[in-house]
Amino acid sequence: MIAPLPQASLMLETKRLWISPLTIDDVELSTALLCDPDVMKYVSDPMTPDAVRQEMPLVTRRAAGGRFGIWVARHKGAAEGFATCVLTPVPIDDDVDWDAMDMARYPDGQIEVGYLLRREAWGQGFATEICARLLQFAFEQTRLTQVVATTDPDNRRSQAVLEKCGMQPIGLRRAYGWDDVSWFVLSKERWQNRRTG
Ligand SMILES: CC(C)(COP(=O)(O)OP(=O)(O)OC[C@H]1O[C@@H](n2cnc3c(N)ncnc32)[C@H](O)[C@@H]1OP(=O)(O)O)[C@@H](O)C(=O)NCCC(=O)NCCS
Repeated sequence: MIAPLPQASLMLETKRLWISPLTIDDVELSTALLCDPDVMKYVSDPMTPDAVRQEMPLVTRRAAGGRFGIWVARHKGAAEGFATCVLTPVPIDDDVDWDAMDMARYPDGQIEVGYLLRREAWGQGFATEICARLLQFAFEQTRLTQVVATTDPDNRRSQAVLEKCGMQPIGLRRAYGWDDVSWFVLSKERWQNRRTG
C-alpha cells in the first residue's frame, strides 16, 4: 500500500512559481492550452473546448498517493495558472490511460516529465524552472530511479529545456503510437551528482 502524500506536499514551490495539482477548476487554462495550435504544434492535434471539458474529470485523476498526474503552474501572487506539467506514464501506443491511474498503486511503464505553457510565457525560463522542480519531486518523493521525456524530433525548444535540466538524449523510439519520437532520460544518480557536484 502506498502512503498518500498530504496535499501540502503536492504544492511545489520554485523561485517564481507555485505548482499545484490540476483540478476541475483549471478547465479554462486546459482549454487555452490544448486548443491552441501554436502550443500543440509538436504535441498532437489541437482539441475542441467540448472535448477538453469532457476529459477534465478523467485527467485530474492521480496515482500512487498523488505522486503522478498533472500539475498547474502559476506565478506567485496570481490566481490563474499559465502552464500545465506532468509526471505520467509514457504510452507506447495511443495516449495516457487515465482510467488506469490509481491512487493506491504506481502506474506501469516509464514515467515522463512534460509541460505546456501559454504562448506569452515562452522564452523566460519558466519551462526549465517547472521541469527542474518536477524532477526534484520525482527523485525525492517517489521511488523512481529514472525519469524520461519524449518530444517531437523538431521540438528544439523543449529539447533545450530537457538538456538544461540534465536529461540526456537516447535517440528515436516508439511512443504515443509513433515510431520516431525523441527520448530523453535522467537517472536519479545523475540528478544527485549534478546537485552535489
Ligand atoms: C517548449 C516550451 C515548454 C518551452 O518553454 P520556455 O519557457 O520557452 O522554455 P525556457 O525559456 O525554459 O527555455 C527554452 C530554451 O530553448 C531555447 N530555444 C528557444 N527556441 C529554440 C530553438 N528554436 N532551438 C533551440 N533552442 C531554442 C531558448 O534559448 C531557451 O534556452 P536558454 O535559456 O538556454 O536560452 C514552450 O515553448 C511550450 O509550451 N511549447 C508548446 C508545448 C510543447 O511543445 N511542450 C513540450 C512538449 S514535449
